[in-house]
Amino acid sequence: MEKNQHISSPDIPVIDLCSPDEELVAIAVVKASQEWGIFQVVNHGIPTELILRLQQVGKEFFELPETEKEAILKVETHGWIISFTASGHRLESTTNSGLRILESTLNEEYASHIKKLSEKIMEWLSEGLGLRRLRREALKEGLGGETVEYLMKINYYPPCPDPELVVGAPDHTDVNGITLLVANEALGLQAFKDNQWIDAKYTTSGIIVIIGDQFLRMSNGKYKSVEHRAKMDKEKTRISWPVFVESSLDHVFGPLPELITGDENIPNFKPYVYKDYKFRKLKKLLLE
Ligand code: SIN
Ligand code: FE2
Repeated sequence: MEKNQHISSPDIPVIDLCSPDEELVAIAVVKASQEWGIFQVVNHGIPTELILRLQQVGKEFFELPETEKEAILKVETHGWIISFTASGHRLESTTNSGLRILESTLNEEYASHIKKLSEKIMEWLSEGLGLRRLRREALKEGLGGETVEYLMKINYYPPCPDPELVVGAPDHTDVNGITLLVANEALGLQAFKDNQWIDAKYTTSGIIVIIGDQFLRMSNGKYKSVEHRAKMDKEKTRISWPVFVESSLDHVFGPLPELITGDENIPNFKPYVYKDYKFRKLKKLLLE
């Protein structure tokens, strides 16, 4: 199927979290996750100043001479990638290099805000599955409860004279539960919906939320793991900071048990150990 880009396309949903009626916010989050699998949240409670500091640190790092950067990081397919995992309120680097980039107060502050915001969104999404009277924590628990991990990457896309020829990040769905992403002023993220690529518009302090495969499967198909890609810009450097909320590798995930009780509620997906799921997806093996 040809994935053309059309000129007039709808914008991804924008949800103001500061509305006085939390019920309406929750409904909007659920609807956007069902219909789009991607949306932007604004007035999310993470101070703009903190997001700007995060962006400044990333920018300064990438402006270092190549040799210095190489000494710190390894190069991956579409830019420079730094990984952190989180335990508690701290995004910890899996390598020493990461910690040299995000100083610890910024790291801890951002991690604690992202954790809080993601938990709120997961609660709304759990309620949206009709589980309110059972457990608001259903999705978080299904993802592993206190063993849930937060992984931050920093994607760097240098300017590209012919963005039609070089893709920043090729089409994919995220493998994890939910992704919360900020990006600098160079737009480039696109989502595939109703047979077309749609430019995800966002402000530099807005947070893009992306539903991944784990939530598609845990919700038994109710929430959509959106196909997306990132394009490079002709003139501007693009940087994005996704935080992936996901299970630990040995955790088993699948449709939440509450959703598959009764004769008419059959599971649409098989349970997997997260590391096996990731491996099979990477190797393009059959996933049921
Ligand atoms: C990705 O989804 O892999 C990249 C998203 C982005 O850079 O905006
Ligand atoms: Fe992604």
